[in-house]
Amino acid sequence: MNHFEPTHGNLACEGVPLRDIAQSVGTPVYVYSSATLERHYEVLRHALAAEGLKGEGGGEALIAFAVKANSNLAVLKTLARRGAGADTVSEGEIRRALAAGIPAHKIVFSGVGKTAGELAFALKAGVSEINIESEPEMHLAAQVAQSLGTRAVIAIRVNPDVSAGGHAKIATGKADNKFGVSFSEAERLYAQASNNAGLKPVGVTCHIGSQITDLAPMSSAFAKMKGLVERLRHEGLAVDRLDLGGGLGVPYFNQPDPPTPADYARMIAQTLGDLDVAYSFEPGRMIAANAGVLLATVLHIHKRPEGRKFAILDAAMNDLIRPAMYEAYHDIIPLAPRAGPPEIYDVVGPICETGDTFTRERELPPLAAGDLVAFMSAGAYGAVMSSEYNSRLLVPEVLVRGDRYAVVRPRPTYEDMLAKDAMPDWF
Ligand code: LLP
Repeated sequence: MNHFEPTHGNLACEGVPLRDIAQSVGTPVYVYSSATLERHYEVLRHALAAEGLKGEGGGEALIAFAVKANSNLAVLKTLARRGAGADTVSEGEIRRALAAGIPAHKIVFSGVGKTAGELAFALKAGVSEINIESEPEMHLAAQVAQSLGTRAVIAIRVNPDVSAGGHAKIATGKADNKFGVSFSEAERLYAQASNNAGLKPVGVTCHIGSQITDLAPMSSAFAKMKGLVERLRHEGLAVDRLDLGGGLGVPYFNQPDPPTPADYARMIAQTLGDLDVAYSFEPGRMIAANAGVLLATVLHIHKRPEGRKFAILDAAMNDLIRPAMYEAYHDIIPLAPRAGPPEIYDVVGPICETGDTFTRERELPPLAAGDLVAFMSAGAYGAVMSSEYNSRLLVPEVLVRGDRYAVVRPRPTYEDMLAKDAMPDWF
């Protein structure tokens, strides 16, 4: 459920008509709903608690929001105030999480290519856990920790070698993907780490992909993780934590409804229930996707004599790259739909390549120049993946709470954009 509903024929976010935001901030613009972010977080939290899935010291399981999905500080703070942690993959993301008020002990540091500098930053900040993705990275973490006179608290990321379905570009759990180590390597590395003065292994982790709409591959990966925990313990090694990653899919409107957080929690309890570990999770999309929309204005309706109709928007692939990159489907809703029979449009942006196409041959209410439209489910992997391609200004972001809204990332000026480049001294 989300908080984008028509009121008096006009699409609104909570108590704010989206048209008001489009008029005052201009388009393109991302708009996020605080109530939806909070609701998605709470639904997951309650589902985990209802199944008895606990965290450190028997408290609540850690829900470490995957900052890569939406890294706006105001979005992070909204979740932080509810108790969320952060799953981060760069020094920049750790800094964002800290700046938003997420305590270091709720921050997990993942990613296959952490640099020595980033590891040092994470260790000094005191993050809760560094998820180790390969043997050389483990050695680097040990070295950096020792040079700082500390021990790195680590979890070993396992690649369970399962196919999770979904788009190939976002599947991560097969052995031919770059992520994590095999089960046998994990056992060897865990034992090695427990004898290393620079390392403190506390658990294991996996993340098999994103937009997963079938629980079966997750359950098979988690069952394998349970086997690993039991083997490690059998060897006398302590395994206190199990981080199950993110990946639960969301409804993008044209797809069958994915499993709910309650189904997900039940599956985990059934697969792993009796394992005595502190659980953590790294959801991104399920919290943020349906909490955000991208608003755009129709610039022109370009009709070919043979009949094809292009709705050309002021938003482009640089603002929302998911359709171009993953053939992703986003529902497109006019803020105030016109009456009349639906028409068939290719909805495109102004960028100079055919890839700048949001959808082909989509049936939509009739559109005209000046109309405002919303791309739904754009709160995750939307603004974070935007760029200045074609020297277009980075897209602004707005956060709504009830009947109030605030610009939480302003649209830069052209002066700001040009000032980021520097001239070499030979000119
Ligand atoms: N944990 C790790 C280690 C991850 O790599 C990811 C996502 C997550 C958690 C969060 O996954 P989620 O719950 O959001 O599915 N840009 C793509 C999605 C890339 C996901 C990358 N990893 C898209 O727009 O579909």
